[in-house]
Amino acid sequence: MDITTIWKPEYSVGHPEIDRQHKYLFELWIMLDSMKNQQDNRLSLEQALLSLFDYVEIHFSNEEEYLATHPEIEQHKTIHADFIAQTNTFMEDFHNETLDLHTVVDFLRDWLIEHIVETDGRYFKELAQKS
Ligand SMILES: [Fe+2]
Repeated sequence: MDITTIWKPEYSVGHPEIDRQHKYLFELWIMLDSMKNQQDNRLSLEQALLSLFDYVEIHFSNEEEYLATHPEIEQHKTIHADFIAQTNTFMEDFHNETLDLHTVVDFLRDWLIEHIVETDGRYFKELAQKS
């Protein structure tokens, strides 16, 4: 699987830099997805999880800067913070060896797509209309 398999034109939020970052999130997700059947490599798995979750945090703070003047920015920040808390729980589960990777990989794909399309897409569209 590569980015062209998962990325669809409707995922674009109309902001080239944010689209580039969203694509990179999917690249990192693809890496994690590819490890589902070789879960005995705990170190590689941990690195794949951390690569995605660390980049998520960088991306969120970047996106929040671009969206800073949107009237509902605080709600968006809360959604991001809740997701980061969720990723921290996943890392705890990983270290406790209770993480179900298949469930997490599916959850991450669904969350990313829905958030990008429903939330990011709406916010960027509304900002563009305002200016
Ligand atoms: Fe977002």
